Amino acid sequence: MEALFAELEASSATPPAGTRSRLRARLRRLARALAADASAVQRARPVTIEREVGAQRRARLESLALLAGGLAHDFNNVLIGVLANSSLALLDLPLDSPARRPLQEIENAARRAADLTRLVLTFSGRAHLAVEPVDLNALVQESVASLTSARGRKSAIRFQPADPLPSIEADASRLRLALTSLVANALEAMGPGRGVVTLSTDRIDVGEDSPLDHALPGFPAPGSYVVLDATDTGAGMTPEVMSRAFEPYFTTKPGHRGLGLSIVLGIVRSHKGAIVVETRPKGGTRVRVLLPIPSS
Ligand SMILES: Nc1ncnc2c1ncn2[C@@H]1O[C@H](COP(=O)(O)OP(=O)(O)OP(=O)(O)O)[C@@H](O)[C@H]1O
Ligand SMILES: [Mg+2]
Repeated sequence: MEALFAELEASSATPPAGTRSRLRARLRRLARALAADASAVQRARPVTIEREVGAQRRARLESLALLAGGLAHDFNNVLIGVLANSSLALLDLPLDSPARRPLQEIENAARRAADLTRLVLTFSGRAHLAVEPVDLNALVQESVASLTSARGRKSAIRFQPADPLPSIEADASRLRLALTSLVANALEAMGPGRGVVTLSTDRIDVGEDSPLDHALPGFPAPGSYVVLDATDTGAGMTPEVMSRAFEPYFTTKPGHRGLGLSIVLGIVRSHKGAIVVETRPKGGTRVRVLLPIPSS
């Protein structure tokens, strides 16, 4: 290509007689080469943009989690002061004091604020975990039973456990919360009485070159993981929705808070795991949650 340009430049001043047709042929070759280059750039573009969007999305989520987690942590310390002092004041006040009611209101408000900070600590991945050995198959089995009876749609949720599955070190109540949130999203994406959510478990070994480019919060550390897979046959997500789905308070559903996936990501983050989502508009969604198997 460079050589062709040089050649053209050299011959472009005043082409001697007889070289016109040669020049025209070169120009045609140049046009063809440029067209080929342009289509190669177009073919390459989605991959490049997807990589950049992926990296930006991860960075944005990370800084959100850092900011929210740091604020929630400091705010919690302030709340402890409010709660401790209002309790002490209530102990000292006579039972018929008119100040008791407003003090109790202060205490109730501080408790509600403490619940909110716990929520923010959860989605920022800084919540305290009650870690114990967890059999993921048993946990999913129990949750499916309670989810189907709560939703009254026996056929909508299927479970295919991998057998055997190593146990993991995890906070069972947090994992139940994450699973419930994923199943809720799957059912909501399919609409009432339609489609199937398939839950399954598996075990994978992650190496340096595993195809997990889009994992959140980042590429998982090499090692062995159990996988919880939630696949639905619902509406799927457009690239725009997918790129924001894990942001706290992002929702496309009226009346929802948009906290489900950010809480799932926080729970996964605090377990040093990863999430991989595959989705297509009208083509369903597959969410895989990877949780590390402790090295014995
Ligand atoms: N399985 C899914 N299929 C299609 N879209 C999904 C799926 N899961 C999440 N989404 C999209 O991602 C958005 C964010 O999900 P998230 O669970 O965080 O919030 P929400 O479900 O809208 O509200 P909340 O969970 O607080 O009730 C959803 O509004 C929806 O657009
Ligand atoms: Mg949700």
